[in-house]
Amino acid sequence: MAKAHDTRELQRASARAPAPMPASDSYDVERIRADFPILYRDVYGKPLVYLDNAASAQKPRSVIETMDHAYRFEYANVHRGLHFLSNLATSKYEDARGIVQRFLNAGSADEIVFTRNATAAINLVADSFGDRFGKGDEIVISIMEHHSNIVPWHFLRERRGVVLKWAPIADDGELLLDEFERLLTPKTKLVAITHMSNVLGTVVPVKDIVRMAHARGIPVLIDGSQAAVHMPVDVRDLGCDFYIFTGHKTYGPTGIGVLYAKAAHLEAMRPYQGGGNMIEAVHVDRITYGKPPQKFEAGTPPIVEAIGLGAALNYMMQVGRDRIARHETELVGYAHAQLAELPWLKIYGTAPGKGGIVSFTMDGLHPHDIATVVDRSGVAVRAGHHCAQPLMERLGITATARASFAMYNTKGEVHALVEALKRAHELFT
Ligand SMILES: Cc1ncc(COP(=O)(O)O)c(C=O)c1O
Repeated sequence: MAKAHDTRELQRASARAPAPMPASDSYDVERIRADFPILYRDVYGKPLVYLDNAASAQKPRSVIETMDHAYRFEYANVHRGLHFLSNLATSKYEDARGIVQRFLNAGSADEIVFTRNATAAINLVADSFGDRFGKGDEIVISIMEHHSNIVPWHFLRERRGVVLKWAPIADDGELLLDEFERLLTPKTKLVAITHMSNVLGTVVPVKDIVRMAHARGIPVLIDGSQAAVHMPVDVRDLGCDFYIFTGHKTYGPTGIGVLYAKAAHLEAMRPYQGGGNMIEAVHVDRITYGKPPQKFEAGTPPIVEAIGLGAALNYMMQVGRDRIARHETELVGYAHAQLAELPWLKIYGTAPGKGGIVSFTMDGLHPHDIATVVDRSGVAVRAGHHCAQPLMERLGITATARASFAMYNTKGEVHALVEALKRAHELFT
């Protein structure tokens, strides 16, 4: 009886798999929205306008259902089992690695390490790759990094005497490439730079960065936590040594992140953490390590989270990452045009080719108050320093309000933001 019930549930779950997107080039945002159940809820009796995607994106039904299905029918611990479910879970987990490989166009699935999030991936590199750095060695980062791509390097400054050098930006948020290049010296051991600023939306020309750094034999780590959401990424074309992103921003679950690293680096790096799964053999007096990527995945990994991430990346690839990028470029252009009409509002970040993030301040109202007031109109934006305090110092402010777009946002929602801001200005200034 129970078996028949399970079979029916299995059939229902596969019937709910998302239908393929239309082959045409038209971008049907309403069709995409229909895949995200949370977008249909209201807040304070008003339709939700979710513009906090740079902090975390909402999840399509295919992710929710894939994870639900994995827990109901495919769950066991991976790698260690000789039984049916363990083998099934292992193959789903490794399939997810293959999906990430395709998403990044990496040369091999063995170059994909699953971590807890982007922060953990950068810390892994700082610890395992950074252990060869010593006093006076230099790491070049930009002034618009997220703290996740600053603090692990500060650890190396504190603990190993490494020197941090900061690439500057122009007032519009564009990275000053010539100045960046001047920072590269024979002592530079690593460039660690964002692909897209989480505050300004600036897209950094990382291919040029890699070319300049590699010409001097310097490896490059790219923090793709924002870029991977908004544009196609091809790590082989970029030629970077490390590329990092985080699952929950790419429409996947929390608790899962990705480190792409060239195979030669993973081979040469010592493991980050020790425990189960990452060893070949453990004896009383010696240990040998497993091969990458297992060497860097100590302990039980985030199994269902990885499977959910695979579903999310498949969803993005199905919609089409070029098409998502075009849609968001249109939205951000529209938002800039609308917000430019408000003389009491200042936008931070107007670099050419910027992505779908708009940071702003308002005369007479603190960014936290802006966020609190527009929230009452159902509009979710974020306010604060956005984990980018060196950038705030560079801009001479302590905080901004930030609207950030995803594949499912509409011009109508931008309009709702603008109307909510006008009301806030009328009522509170
Ligand atoms: C550019 C950038 N890097 C790194 C991170 C850290 O991501 P996580 O908190 O998932 O590790 C974020 C998150 O906001 C980000 O925007």
